[in-house]
Amino acid sequence: MQKSIGDKNSQKQLNGSFFKSWIMTYKHIKSLDTTTDFIIPCGKDHLKTIADFIPIKTPDFDGSFGSYQLIYGTHGNRIYLLGIGEEKEAPKMEEAFRKLCFETQKHWDKTIQVYAEDLLDDDIKKAVVGMEMAQYVIGEFKSKKDKLKNVNVAFVSSKAIKKTLSEGKCTGETINRIKALVDAPPNVKTPEFLGNWASKSAKKHDYKCTVLKQKQLEKQGFKAVLSVGRASVNPPVVIINEYKGKTTKSVDIALVGKGVTFDSGGLSIKPSTNLHYMKSDMGGAAVVLGIVELIAKLKLKINVVGIVASAENAVGSDSYRPGDVIGSYSGKTIEIIDTDAEGRLCLADGISYAIKTFKPEYLIDLATLTGSVVRTLGYAAAGMFTKDQDMANAMSNLGNQVHERVWELPLYEDFESDLHSDVADIRNFSGLPIAGAINAAKFLEAFTENHEKWLHLDIAGVSFGSSSYAKMKSATGFGIQLMLRFIQEKASN
Ligand code: BES
Ligand code: ZN
Ligand code: ZN
Repeated sequence: MQKSIGDKNSQKQLNGSFFKSWIMTYKHIKSLDTTTDFIIPCGKDHLKTIADFIPIKTPDFDGSFGSYQLIYGTHGNRIYLLGIGEEKEAPKMEEAFRKLCFETQKHWDKTIQVYAEDLLDDDIKKAVVGMEMAQYVIGEFKSKKDKLKNVNVAFVSSKAIKKTLSEGKCTGETINRIKALVDAPPNVKTPEFLGNWASKSAKKHDYKCTVLKQKQLEKQGFKAVLSVGRASVNPPVVIINEYKGKTTKSVDIALVGKGVTFDSGGLSIKPSTNLHYMKSDMGGAAVVLGIVELIAKLKLKINVVGIVASAENAVGSDSYRPGDVIGSYSGKTIEIIDTDAEGRLCLADGISYAIKTFKPEYLIDLATLTGSVVRTLGYAAAGMFTKDQDMANAMSNLGNQVHERVWELPLYEDFESDLHSDVADIRNFSGLPIAGAINAAKFLEAFTENHEKWLHLDIAGVSFGSSSYAKMKSATGFGIQLMLRFIQEKASN
């Protein structure tokens, strides 16, 4: 008998590896074999390289970003001219490689070469990330799967690029793994499933993972996460991943992620249009889980903790209600105005726990927190909130470098009174149809104990969206490259 998706066994089966894609092996070679297939990346108006390989003086290919042209070589080989556009487009380099790879790899032989002599280290890394991203399989739950294939990708360069290739591959793999989580159906990726994913990853990549389940959460007082999750048959969990890359004890960076595996809105129920997309409400958690795995794979010299507060915001006879006053890990009481403002409740407990337990130097949370940030910044950037201008500037610059952009929004004191409650210490929503993303950030701030290096990223608009790789909206992987850069910078200091 076929197992139904979502039963305990099929969840177990899906744990960890999750999806199978083509296996790409990235190698470094010193010289190009012009008799077999190769890709020549060409910048716009920098088409001289083409003449080194093909006897044409004025090519009709202009190198604009993401365009490509196939030429058949005299040895029956394929030569792809790949447009990488202008210098300002370099941050999204992976997109050009991903598109070429996605659309043409079915025709490739066992080996393809990439002429990388004119590419910077960062460009090569992004090229590998893009080629790896092209292997992402969105149809994980289709009955018929495509055949798997092994491809060798040989980067041609006179420089030493082995480490760059390996970092690109690990980054691309992590992006695919977190996309698989975000795209997974909510009947499969329950909070417990996320916990199992983390445990398995921790064992494989040698970091510590603790999954706090219902009883422990009750014992330790995670009252806000428990309130959000209490109407669901899938109980909440809090996942604590600890990676130690240094011998010192202190935690350099704590990351906290919103892991709402499905957000129905609760009793303040959401409209049904596009409700299925609320499976992506754990995009922040996915980044946190993925980044700890990635830095463990890369063995970065830094101590990082990743905390995921995960629950399903369901409707049931035991739902928490608008009007309820609930507790929280911090001890603060919260008046619930809207049960759809659940992410901030999960994060509040995650943030309090991070501060109390680890006293991190930097504290960053990532969450698909508000519709308001989507209305403000669309799909172009995440909303960023912090009082540390150095951190804001660093994050903003890094975001531009990897095309995972962030845009700062204010934490003005003016917004504090909006969260006043007559009956509790704070309320979870102002009740006003204005400044929703700022309101949510101000709520979180109340649980940060004035941590000086706290930064909040509202990724609701950028974590999940339209692309040319799927007909419906799907996960983007936003946040992995940005967080990796941030952590790498701190690790090298
Ligand atoms: N998960 C949503 C935010 C969201 C919206 C994520 C669109 C991705 C795409 C969040 O929990 C939510 O429902 N927020 C409400 C808060 C409001 C009720 C105070 C919102 O922003 O509308
Ligand atoms: Zn909600
Ligand atoms: Zn939500």
